[in-house]
Amino acid sequence: MNLNGKSVVVTGGNTGIGAAIVRALAASGAAVVIDYVSRPEDAADLVKTITASGGRAVGVEADVSSVAGIDKLIQTAVDEFGQLDAFVNNAGIEKRHSLLEVDEQTFDQVMAVDLKSAVFGTQRAAKRFIEQGRGGIVVNISSVHEDWPMPGNLSYCVAKGGMRMLTRAAGVELGPQGVRVVNVAPGAVDTPINAQTMKDDSLRQTLEDSIPLRKVAEPNQIGEVVAFVISDAGSYLTATTVFVDGGIMHGSVGL
Ligand SMILES: NC(=O)c1ccc[n+]([C@@H]2O[C@H](COP(=O)([O-])OP(=O)(O)OC[C@H]3O[C@@H](n4cnc5c(N)ncnc54)[C@H](O)[C@@H]3O)[C@@H](O)[C@H]2O)c1
Repeated sequence: MNLNGKSVVVTGGNTGIGAAIVRALAASGAAVVIDYVSRPEDAADLVKTITASGGRAVGVEADVSSVAGIDKLIQTAVDEFGQLDAFVNNAGIEKRHSLLEVDEQTFDQVMAVDLKSAVFGTQRAAKRFIEQGRGGIVVNISSVHEDWPMPGNLSYCVAKGGMRMLTRAAGVELGPQGVRVVNVAPGAVDTPINAQTMKDDSLRQTLEDSIPLRKVAEPNQIGEVVAFVISDAGSYLTATTVFVDGGIMHGSVGL
């Protein structure tokens, strides 16, 4: 993939899928703004590795549940790399509860990190792209749960379902201005958000038995797809979702 000269923001870019996206983009030549809210050492390590191999990256602490945090990331991309070409809404949290259990505070928290951040990340990036006059792309990291109900994970499913419609509505609105908006929807990936399932051998086995490809994804298998979507090879994708799930949505068990 050739992303030479592109400047990209990745939210929650210091761990898990975000870090894999950062690595894939940098390996393709993009300059990357790595957002983090915790574990600054992970962001620093990524910056060190990327710059040591001749790439460009900078770590920035910003909470994307506030619009001010999003604006800070975009301003950094412009200050450090002169422009913004792509924005990846990757940051997310998961709080397990059913509809009957969920409380107002937890629901608001999940919505703020998983959905509000994507709405305003898309809006702020699009405004910048339009100002620059060269188009651009927003990639939203949703989930198979943008479409697939998961009992006991109500707020997360509602947020990812909202992201599904955000991408379709924004892609249709912004297409005429050369701005693409695409969801990349992972199935099960071995990252910190899934730590409980991943470290329980029996749960992991049940999960893998339900996946047609019979294994949980490695984060780089998502990162490579995001690099493709941002690149010219993905230039006709918009207002849609690319599922990267090993076939889990069509598997037989599901967790
Ligand atoms: N791991 C999976 O199986 C899986 C499957 C489908 C979708 N996803 C999605 O992938 C994305 C990345 O998750 P992950 O699996 O890499 O887990 P992760 O916990 O490693 O990544 C989430 C990142 O978001 C960051 N974050 C949380 N709140 C934030 C805030 N307010 N501002 C900025 N950053 C914040 C965290 O610090 C972390 O870096 C999430 O949106 C998640 O829903 C993950």
